[in-house]
Amino acid sequence: MLSGKRITLIIGGGIAAFKSLDLIRRLRERGANVTPVLTRAAEEFVTPLSASALAAEKVYRDLFDLNDEHEMGHIELSRASDLIVVAPATADLMARMAAGLANDLASTLLLATDKRVLVAPAMNLRMWEHPATQRTIETLKSDGVLFVGPNDGDMACGEYGPGRMAEPLEIVAAVSAAIADGPLRGKHVLVTSGPTHEPIDPVRYIANRSSGAQGTAIARALAALGAQVTFVTGPADVEPPAGVAVVPVETAQEMLGAVQAALPADAAIFAAAVADWRVVSASDSKIKKGARGGLPSIELAENPDILATVAAMKNGRPGLVIGFAAETDDVLENARAKLQRKGCDWIVANDVSPETGIMGGGENAVTLITDDGAEDWPRMGKDRVAMRLAERVARALNGDEG
Ligand code: CTP
Repeated sequence: MLSGKRITLIIGGGIAAFKSLDLIRRLRERGANVTPVLTRAAEEFVTPLSASALAAEKVYRDLFDLNDEHEMGHIELSRASDLIVVAPATADLMARMAAGLANDLASTLLLATDKRVLVAPAMNLRMWEHPATQRTIETLKSDGVLFVGPNDGDMACGEYGPGRMAEPLEIVAAVSAAIADGPLRGKHVLVTSGPTHEPIDPVRYIANRSSGAQGTAIARALAALGAQVTFVTGPADVEPPAGVAVVPVETAQEMLGAVQAALPADAAIFAAAVADWRVVSASDSKIKKGARGGLPSIELAENPDILATVAAMKNGRPGLVIGFAAETDDVLENARAKLQRKGCDWIVANDVSPETGIMGGGENAVTLITDDGAEDWPRMGKDRVAMRLAERVARALNGDEG
């Protein structure tokens, strides 16, 4: 499935570098050509000879080599690739990437590339949680860098938590999604997903039962068809898919900001269950029982309607705007009214009455409403609903349907 693809694999200096040797093997098994680039620190953990033997290719090393520049300079090295993968991506290497430094071969290549970059971070959990690293991650995400992991787990340093590099097969899945050939190649699609949390005080919030499963499946399906996906997600139960640019948010207002920052897009799919209201002035400290005498009263304000805001844009409106209508009664009628009211092009209507088991379940039964009318889809897994919708989006963006 990766046959003929060329991947430049930058191996950073961390204990997880040993897993990158397996990653080379796994990528090659799937037909990819892998050109390894070792940082100076990486050579403390794996040898250039083992990387080169597994890749069956020349290894590029940090030590400046005039011969290398003659054979294939750093610009050409990145241009010849379909994707640049950094695994393990250390805190130091990512910070240099975010700052735009070019003080060794790996960072120069990352600065010079016009290709997508996928990073698999690996570091001690305190380094991962440090505000400096979190700032770096934010910057890289807004630059469009893709992430896979890190995972939670036991670490070589004896601690437990986030910071473990994703497993080779997870990285392979992210690579496949990032360079998938398909009818959505070259298209940018924005997806919102999950619930939003609207704070009442530091420990309480208003939320809803959305698991984020359907939105996540849609993002995965779009990526599998080759789209470049920006996935804006509230606090969901399911993990975001690999190979998409993930923008995590908490509240509806943050979600709107993230959506506007991610535009322009060719299509936008609003699968999030956005809380309709927020607390007007959330308390900075925990509201104590009986502090103000009797029950606290909570004043609510209406949240911005993200879908309606984007659908009404005069400039830069995505060509295809798709909403969801989660209803418990008069599903079709309500969904049609919602399409009109919000100004979107299509609406995916579903019945979320408790007896359907759809909210939080693995299946969905939807009706797709377009200009051409309403199409009932049989009840099927959320992954299949997602793929069918992604295929429809591909047809519409490629002019095969209105
Ligand atoms: N939506 C949104 N922003 C909001 C509310 C909803 O973007 N503040 C989007 C959802 O992502 C979904 C569509 O609007 O695509 C419909 O959401 P739904 O919750 O069904 O509709 P509501 O606007 O809440 O309408 P109602 O209360 O009448 O059901």
